[in-house]
Amino acid sequence: MGDLSGHREAFARTFGTGGAPRVFFSPGRINLMGAHLDYNGGPVMPTAIDRGTFLAVRTRADRRVVMASTLDDGARIEFELDRLPETRTGRWADYPLGVLREMHALARTLGRERNPRGADVLFGGNLPVGAGLSSSASICVGTAHALDALWELAAPRMELVDVALRAERGFVGVRCGIMDPYAVGLARTGHLLWLDCKDRSHAYLPLDTGAITIAVADSLVRRELAQGAFNERVSQCARAFALLSPHQPGAECLRDIRLETFTSRAASMPPEIARRANHVVHEVARTFAARDALTRGDPRGFGAEMFRTHESLRDLFEVSVPELDRLVASAAESPGCFGARLTGAGFGGCAVLLIEKGREAEVSARLVDDFAREFGRAPRVDFFGGDAGPREIA
Ligand code: GLA
Repeated sequence: MGDLSGHREAFARTFGTGGAPRVFFSPGRINLMGAHLDYNGGPVMPTAIDRGTFLAVRTRADRRVVMASTLDDGARIEFELDRLPETRTGRWADYPLGVLREMHALARTLGRERNPRGADVLFGGNLPVGAGLSSSASICVGTAHALDALWELAAPRMELVDVALRAERGFVGVRCGIMDPYAVGLARTGHLLWLDCKDRSHAYLPLDTGAITIAVADSLVRRELAQGAFNERVSQCARAFALLSPHQPGAECLRDIRLETFTSRAASMPPEIARRANHVVHEVARTFAARDALTRGDPRGFGAEMFRTHESLRDLFEVSVPELDRLVASAAESPGCFGARLTGAGFGGCAVLLIEKGREAEVSARLVDDFAREFGRAPRVDFFGGDAGPREIA
């Protein structure tokens, strides 16, 4: 937690000295398998990383909540706890504001309506925004945990995950799946989360961190229209399900469509919709295959599924960009790399790599050289440890 003292100093600069703030950390996440499956009811395999959001929080004597972020020059945004805005502002603060509204409502539901109090909150951290590492879920789940502690609500961990999800889907209005807040909120060090997005059941799969290093290569490409393109994929998958479900009795989501059903109907579907369904149907099978590989201690088998996933995201789901394709191609040509794919929604952002322990430098040098030759600049390659999930750190 290298920047803890820096964050405390920034808090004092923004809100003044007098009473040390409580400090919380909430991680980001990467997704290793199950690409674009969460909103199709499929299984996903994310894990939290040791980069994320810092929240320094101090109770106020009045009923105002004042928020600022080190990533936004410390500009202060203020709310009256008993008159929280009904509509979003279009700024970053919509995420914690959505959570604030949900936590305020939760306090009432729990019969603790007298507990919420005003607070000064400073956000910051070391997670790149818009890189596909889920800075939004990190902020939302972290805010829910911090307010839960500050207001002594003692809400169950799962309830705080749901608060974050409701805030993003409701107040902020993003059509996100359930993976990100679950990955952040239920994180366990040294494990991948196996989350079945149809019934929300989950389990933990140990990752052999003695043999495998997780790397993230940031293409530094950021697409402004990524949210619209993401929503379009969600709509296209819903369309695919509407076309296929009459031929699959009992199917409740696209994940339930069997390969034979898809194959027999594909030619009758609009080609673009068929490509999206093709990705989903095969990604479900790949994700189960990857779990089997992990369970039998076969990182190369696991990585092979990741490479296939990337090809499918590039050719069928069409969410990659040339920079990410370059990174994954270089990874595939590096003997020390087990597997790689774009992570998050795509349209720029990061590739995630599984590397054989001890060969990090060799793989990373190859990625940087190849990328620089093609694009005239270097990607950012980082090595991440796992994380235990949102918690108070000071
Ligand atoms: C984004 C969304 C997630 C998930 C991924 C794709 O990160 O927030 O819910 O759909 O894309 O797997």
